[in-house]
Amino acid sequence: MLRRPRRNRQSAAIRGMVEENQLTVNDMLFPLFLVEGNNQKIEVQSMPNIYRYSLDNLLKEIDGCVSLGLNSFAVFPCLPEDKKDKYATEGANKEGLYIKTLEKVKQEFPQIALMTDVAMDPYSSDGHDGLVENGQILNDETLDILANMTLAQAEAGADIIGPSDMMDGRVGYLRNKLDEQGYINTSIMSYTAKYASAYYGPFRDALDSAPKFGDKKTYQMNPANSKEALIEAQLDFEEGADFMMVKPALAYMDIIKLLKDHYNIPIAAYNVSGEYAMVKAGAEKGWIDGEKVMLETLLGMKRAGADVILTYFAKEVATLLKK
Ligand code: PBG
Repeated sequence: MLRRPRRNRQSAAIRGMVEENQLTVNDMLFPLFLVEGNNQKIEVQSMPNIYRYSLDNLLKEIDGCVSLGLNSFAVFPCLPEDKKDKYATEGANKEGLYIKTLEKVKQEFPQIALMTDVAMDPYSSDGHDGLVENGQILNDETLDILANMTLAQAEAGADIIGPSDMMDGRVGYLRNKLDEQGYINTSIMSYTAKYASAYYGPFRDALDSAPKFGDKKTYQMNPANSKEALIEAQLDFEEGADFMMVKPALAYMDIIKLLKDHYNIPIAAYNVSGEYAMVKAGAEKGWIDGEKVMLETLLGMKRAGADVILTYFAKEVATLLKK
């Protein structure tokens, strides 16, 4: 045998030398949940160690993360039912919880990359990402609502707009609206290939944002498809997306690779709530080594081609890397 691959695995020094991928704090974007009130820190039942924070505690949490070297965050709001309506009006309310919070976060931490969520579901009494009429999700009528949210977020100082709604044409629509208002430097990280997934369960618990009827299959993608991801990617690329995201990540590693191979803009992977919950549950039962599985999973996403990983593990990994 002239070629013995094991020679390159024989010591930690050699393994280190030939290692192709590494996980660093720079790769991770930490999603955070926001609630109304003061001094609130409420654990999400299906996500151990992940909390919904009121603004005061959210700022403290970000501060702690920044000292661990994390620089990128996404904030998702959890609103009481009485703030929700058919048109998701609260989403663009400049005096509302979400927009005020973005403003405060950027004031305190001007150096971080702050990403938002653009979709109707946290504010919608129907619990859908788009406008509902007679049981249908209206695409084009939703775009203006998304644009109003986007502009309010950009004005608050958000660095990256995150349309997670899957309406057709929204990236170009939002890009134009941003540019018209002079927000030429506000980036868009499009949820390009977002699948209709059961892995979002714990997130919907965290935000009380489950759809009130039906499912999201007329706008989120069919898990059986990959060609369709290329169509979505082509549109988002042409419409000016700065990043393209694949979501969920774990069961969609092939899609991450597909987009990475076809496009030369950064690819993000969203290691979603259900993926987090599975690892935590397995570890709690003592059936897997949670820490090792966490690191292996995230490294796998990098290897597949993710430049950025949105993950609830971000702080835990940052803590480990710091040690
Ligand atoms: C909704 C949105 C969802 C997530 C992010 N934005 C859920 C959904 O589409 O129902 C899920 C994130 C996660 O599960 O961690 N706009």
